[in-house]
Amino acid sequence: MLLVIPAVLDSAKLQQVRSLLDQGNFVDGRLSAGESARRVKRNEELESGFRHLQQLNNLVMGSLVQHPLYQAAAMPYRVATPYYVRYTQGMGYGDHVDDPVMGPPGGQYRSDISTSVFLNPPDQYEGGELVIRTPFGQQSIKLAAGDAVLYPSSSLHHINEVTQGVRLVAVTWAQSMLRDPQQRELLFQLYQAREALRTSQPESDASTRVDQVYVNLTRMWSEL
Ligand code: NI
Repeated sequence: MLLVIPAVLDSAKLQQVRSLLDQGNFVDGRLSAGESARRVKRNEELESGFRHLQQLNNLVMGSLVQHPLYQAAAMPYRVATPYYVRYTQGMGYGDHVDDPVMGPPGGQYRSDISTSVFLNPPDQYEGGELVIRTPFGQQSIKLAAGDAVLYPSSSLHHINEVTQGVRLVAVTWAQSMLRDPQQRELLFQLYQAREALRTSQPESDASTRVDQVYVNLTRMWSEL
C-alpha cells in the first residue's frame, strides 16, 4: 500500500520543527547506513546527540502516530524514532531496499512500513523526488510540507538527485501488528467502509456488523 496523508504537521508545527532543525548539525548519512545502502546513500542526517531531539520527536511523531489514517493504515506495533534527513545540491539516494531489522540490540524491530514526512515546501528544491517501484509501475512522490507518505519497506526505492536547493524530511519505520501486507490492505479498506457507514448510517445494522467484523479481524490477525 502506498498512502499519502495530507497535513500531518500544520504550519505552526512545521515552523517549530524547522527552527529547531536550523540549530542542529548534520552529519554524513552513510554513518547510519547498512553495507549495501552505503554505496548509494548521499545525504546528511541530524546529529544523534542534538539537544532538542526529544522536542523534535514529540512534534513530528506525536502528530504522525496519533493520526487516525496512520493508525488505520500502519497498525503500528513498534515505531522508530525518526531520522531528520537533509539533501543539498548534488545529493540523492540510489535504488535500495530498507534494512529488514532495525534498532539497537534489545530494542530491535522489523521494518514493515517506511514513512517520510516532508518538512519543507517542494518549491524550495529541484529534483529530490522519492521514487518507489510498485506492482503498478514507478510512483514519483514530492509532497507539500507537512504531508506524509507510507510505503512498504520491502519496496525498491530511491531519491532523485537534488539539483538545486535543500530537501528536508523526517523518515521513520514501523513494525506493524499485521505482518502480511495483504491483510493490512484488506483491513484498511474495511476501515474506510466502516468510517463511511459510521458517518452515513451510524444506527444501521450494516454499520454495526461491519464494525464487528473489522474489530474481530484485527483481533484474529494481530501479532504482538
Ligand atoms: Ni529507504
